[in-house]
Amino acid sequence: MNSKPLYNRLQQHISLDRSSFHTPGHKCSGFFGSGMLELDLTELPDTDALYEADDVILQTENLLSELFRTKRSLISAGGCSLAIQTMLRIASEKGRKIICARNAHRSAVNAMALLGIEPVWIYPRGQKNGFTGRIYAEDVKQAIDADSRITACYITSPDYYGELCDIGKIAEVCHSRGVLLLVDNAHGSHLGFMENDLHPIHLGADMTACSLHKTLPVLTGGAALNIADEALAENAKSAMSLFGSTSPSYMIMSSIDICTDYFLNGSGTEDYRQCERRVSRIKQLAKEKGIAQPEGICDPLRVTLNTASAGICGTEAQEKYFGEYGIDCEFCDGKNAVMICTPFNSERDMKRLETAIKEMPSGRNEITVNTDLNNAPERVMMLRDAVLSDSEVIDVSDSEGRTAADTACPCPPGVPVIMPGEMITKEVIEIMVASGIKKIRAVRN
Ligand SMILES: Cc1ncc(COP(=O)(O)O)c(C=O)c1O
Repeated sequence: MNSKPLYNRLQQHISLDRSSFHTPGHKCSGFFGSGMLELDLTELPDTDALYEADDVILQTENLLSELFRTKRSLISAGGCSLAIQTMLRIASEKGRKIICARNAHRSAVNAMALLGIEPVWIYPRGQKNGFTGRIYAEDVKQAIDADSRITACYITSPDYYGELCDIGKIAEVCHSRGVLLLVDNAHGSHLGFMENDLHPIHLGADMTACSLHKTLPVLTGGAALNIADEALAENAKSAMSLFGSTSPSYMIMSSIDICTDYFLNGSGTEDYRQCERRVSRIKQLAKEKGIAQPEGICDPLRVTLNTASAGICGTEAQEKYFGEYGIDCEFCDGKNAVMICTPFNSERDMKRLETAIKEMPSGRNEITVNTDLNNAPERVMMLRDAVLSDSEVIDVSDSEGRTAADTACPCPPGVPVIMPGEMITKEVIEIMVASGIKKIRAVRN
């Protein structure tokens, strides 16, 4: 029996000396120096308290607000999930009917269920090569105009593949109708430091939830809620305390401080822009090889390769090419491989990635995986009722006519084929089976 199973496995993984193209953004590069563990403190008379911050934590948040040019920024040691819960709680004070992009992360779906928010789904359009596609301002406009009770619009941008929505246009539509724009910017904390500022809070979003740890040098679990309007900040702390642990990690919170200082007083922006230029050469190399990548405005630091266009699925590419050169991808699915790059990747990492790309087969030899649903399944129960119902896990093959109690997604970052409260149809089952989903949680009959 292994006495310290997780600890030993992590040590073993580190000894493999892999190139990390996944989170966290600091890539275990030694950015924080030694001594971080000694900061595992708690709320003491001189260390302030997250939900009642009026001393050093407030100062940390004010510096973060300066960095992101917001009216208010809150730190989270409970990941972006906590920032999303907080954002939805704040928005729910205005109303409980919210337009929501169908590719919402499960933390948002669950938070909506807990808060009694009823989402009105809108679907991303323009899917190509297995990427998610984007939410368009016209669709947001149509959804708002169809229901006068809509008070907010919730979208995810960037999506997992790095595709960015036109936040400026969507914000214009929302604001002209008195609707808040909330953006899950989990994967885009770095976007404001790029050559062209792409951060959604600077393009018109009212609030953004940012998973700092994914793309910036912050310890895993460190995130921020950015707020553009003072009025929305009033009850923000109490909203966060509704969901957050009463023991937020001081290591995580202070790592946010170190990151903020790196940008405000150090070489952060310069390093990220240099990384942007380096990654652009890698993207160009893949393009020259004929490997398809997301089109339109995208996250400059994310390398998303449609390996299917080279005739191999993403998981096979991880095994045969990326894995072979010591690379760990962020994510692979039937069609794509996703790599998160930051300045904390060494030049050796970048060279390894280039070599793997060069080795991949070239020429278009598309493989197809059908995971697209043509119509939204019928909703037969409220989201909240379905999530909180008495439920059971059943075989997908036996689920026709049942009501889903959980989301099911062909590949987690994509568009869920079914949401809680929706009826499971034959078409839904076919897609789940084709995607390898064998079990589903359903409301008990
Ligand atoms: C789009 C999106 N939103 C939210 C989250 C939750 O972020 P965290 O893991 O920081 O809680 C994730 C996590 O992968 C995500 O991909």
